[in-house]
Amino acid sequence: MYARIAGTGSFLPKKILTNADLEKLVDTSDEWIRSRTGIEQRHIVEDGETTTDLAEHASRNAMAAAGVGPGDIDLICVGTTTPDFVFPNVGTLLQSRLGIHGCPAFSLEAACTSFMYALSVADKFVRLGESKCALVVGAETLTRIVDWKDRGTCVLFADGAGAVILQPAEEPGIIATHLHADGKYKDLLLYPDGVSSGFKLVREGKAGVQMKGNEVYKVAVNTLGQLVMETLNANHVRKDQVDWLIPHQANIRIIEAIAKRLEMPMERVIVTINTQGNTSAASVPLALDTGIRDGRIRRGQLLLLEAFGGGFTWGSALIRY
Ligand code: UT7
Repeated sequence: MYARIAGTGSFLPKKILTNADLEKLVDTSDEWIRSRTGIEQRHIVEDGETTTDLAEHASRNAMAAAGVGPGDIDLICVGTTTPDFVFPNVGTLLQSRLGIHGCPAFSLEAACTSFMYALSVADKFVRLGESKCALVVGAETLTRIVDWKDRGTCVLFADGAGAVILQPAEEPGIIATHLHADGKYKDLLLYPDGVSSGFKLVREGKAGVQMKGNEVYKVAVNTLGQLVMETLNANHVRKDQVDWLIPHQANIRIIEAIAKRLEMPMERVIVTINTQGNTSAASVPLALDTGIRDGRIRRGQLLLLEAFGGGFTWGSALIRY
């Protein structure tokens, strides 16, 4: 038994923050942001708009695309690092919004790799016969935890959500997922505050995402390069057999480096970073849905999804769509 993608959906908040807007906030320039990251604009939440709001819209779009209703969903698995509350988890908040009762619903947290982890977990539920219709979401309001005085990070991050419906199939579907983590890199990309540390920095007004950008960049390029080769080799797939690379959208230069490693022209890479920025856990399902809805990604094609984030965590999925 395998899991196949029955439908996808996504959602971006209405409010747009341009590079010109950021020039008024910090010492930066449109030219620097475009040339160093590829970002031209990003969507950000309004006051009161939450991760669950974004997840709900994306989920409804995915359910409509798959032709399933609330009564069909028997598992909800959300990847996010920016939940509405400490608890209930975003999975159960989403469950309530969708009018679903009783099925397991949870969120898991692996920074920008959260969706890849969520997809891998849900894939196992479906393969084991424990889910016949799983809702898998990557949703994030990362701009809520950004330090708007830090030009090294505030120009990068953005908000959004993407969702997929998984159903059982005789043939893949999801051929394989590959997940990794190495906590020795914990100090390179982090938000060092939270419940059990007493929200000390939040109370002092000093909280925010911290990143040693250049060091993260180097590890990301090396690690993702190894990850995509591991994924192809483990599944006996050649580079030229992959139809679409659907990468985490952290930096256009990282995306180009991985495409080069795969000897793929950029025409076969789904890029959304220019208009969406880095939406963390939402970026891969947003890019997947973008490519499917605009007709580039077609049924039967071979997709390689990958992501990298704080922890560090990293993961991939090889999917016959
Ligand atoms: O999604 C999770 C994973 N995250 C990533 O993979 C992000 C990885 N890192 C990156 O994408 C890049 O490292 C950044 C986009 C964050 C930074 O680009 P960079 O080419 O590595 O720049 P840098 O950090 O080496 O900084 C170069 C210069 C510095 O100035 P000096 O010291 O050379 O005078 C920075 O202070 O650019 C400066 N700088 C900026 N200048 C204008 C840093 N941020 C900005 C800014 N505007 N927003």
